[in-house]
Amino acid sequence: MKKQLFGLLLFLLPYISVAAEHGIQLEKANINLKDKASLQRGAILFSNYCMACHSLKYMRYNRIARDLGWTDDEIIKKMAYGQAKPVDDVMTRMLPGVAMEVLGTKVPDLSLMARLKGPDYIYTFLKGFEYDEKTKKWDNKVLHGTAMPNILEDVQRQAPKEKYDQDVRDITNFLDYVGEPIKLERQSLGWKVMLFLFIFFIITYLLKKEYWRDIKH
Ligand code: HEC
Repeated sequence: MKKQLFGLLLFLLPYISVAAEHGIQLEKANINLKDKASLQRGAILFSNYCMACHSLKYMRYNRIARDLGWTDDEIIKKMAYGQAKPVDDVMTRMLPGVAMEVLGTKVPDLSLMARLKGPDYIYTFLKGFEYDEKTKKWDNKVLHGTAMPNILEDVQRQAPKEKYDQDVRDITNFLDYVGEPIKLERQSLGWKVMLFLFIFFIITYLLKKEYWRDIKH
């Protein structure tokens, strides 16, 4: 019995520690890495809303283009307003030093953020901005006192809720892809491996029947 309890505890541990870290329930991002249209929308939204401050320094434009189904020219137009080369890493448009001056802190690179904190965290964080009537300031329920402004305020206020949710989901989906681009390939490889194993199993079974056919047992 003790063993089972211990096993259960081990199983629950990651969830308990996540809950303890943020102290709030994370919303499910419900993203889908196979949804290319969502990834494409996410990339464009990321360029429009996030690259003023954030970079994705471990990603090159041409890699994103290949994975998302764009040509090199298309991605440079869509994500860099024609101002970068396809082999360039995705760098922020913010000039060095400005973040410290304006925001009082450094801006983290987001290449690995989804690996580090998980898509549900990013989704909940982006939607977690609340206006405090008393202090007349924005705060974030996931990261209190954060230096990041509520960048999606316009969408949050003006667009229908479904559109706002979808925009945040698309950005989260894109960042999840960026965190582990190989996942796209691995998922499709997984199916091929399963199919191979299945066919191999049938052949082995038929072979076994063939070998034992004339032997009494
Ligand atoms: C005006 C600059 C600015 C823009 C634009 C901006 N951010 Fe940020 N972001 C920051 C800063 C500064 C931090 C560090 C926050 C802190 O440490 O309090 C941050 C932190 C983050 C974090 C990490 C939070 C954590 O828990 O450490 C994520 C995720 C993030 N931003 C996502 C985004 C996304 C997605 C967009 C576009 C929709 C975006 N940001 C746009 C300035 C910005």
